[in-house]
Amino acid sequence: MPVISFVSSKGGVGKTTSAVVLAGELVASGRSVIMIDADPNHPLVSWAGLQPLPAELSVVADQSAETIIDTIEDARAKADFVIVDLEGTATDRIGFAIARSDLVLVPLQASVLDATEAVKSIKLIRQMSRVAGREIPYRLFFSRIAAVIRERTAKDIEQQFAANGAAVLGAGIVDRAAFRAIFSLGGTLRAIEAKDVGGLQAARDNALAFAQGVIETLKKKAAA
Ligand SMILES: Nc1ncnc2c1ncn2[C@@H]1O[C@H](COP(=O)(O)OP(=O)(O)OP(=O)(O)O)[C@@H](O)[C@H]1O
Ligand SMILES: [Mg+2]
Repeated sequence: MPVISFVSSKGGVGKTTSAVVLAGELVASGRSVIMIDADPNHPLVSWAGLQPLPAELSVVADQSAETIIDTIEDARAKADFVIVDLEGTATDRIGFAIARSDLVLVPLQASVLDATEAVKSIKLIRQMSRVAGREIPYRLFFSRIAAVIRERTAKDIEQQFAANGAAVLGAGIVDRAAFRAIFSLGGTLRAIEAKDVGGLQAARDNALAFAQGVIETLKKKAAA
């Protein structure tokens, strides 16, 4: 079943948050999901320890570049979707995970610095495509978007990437307290109640649109 990896050579851009948001939506739509925590800090393992997760969602810790391929293939055999959360520095493990992925998602914030980092990730994905002998699909997406206005920089960067043939996912992820709250309260976004955090409905709508964008991309790639 499809393996989706979150990759960026820059730290703190929203990989882990977006990965959990996507997993929560997939599980809510009736799919089983295994999340692979391939970050030495093991943020997903810590998160999974806060609250019981839905029955169809589990977190598996991966240890190193030597184990990542087996960890991914074991999970692929067991779940409808596998989501791999990788560390924010360049390592061999990231390359191996990319080589086994059906879709690589690259978050970036709307800054020129982040765009430069995203270009590095795209180069790595293209290189791993050559190693794997197949085209590895990827999408950039904006993360931690300012909620009030869609920034001018974001539009400019999006147009530049489009002009260079790099695909940007239609729906990004807005910066919202509800997405931060997932990691203090535990569980998925769906388990959070309106009394716990403001703007919950907007976050839910965003999570759904993001997950739909990912699923449509996978469907298009499967049909091609
Ligand atoms: N959509 C969002 N809304 C609000 N806060 C966010 C959002 N995405 C990320 N954050 C916050 O930004 C910080 C970094 O996010 P996150 O850990 O998801 O990034 P990362 O790319 O996985 O980082 P690392 O490279 O360290 O693994 C965290 O404090 C997180 O709560
Ligand atoms: Mg992370």
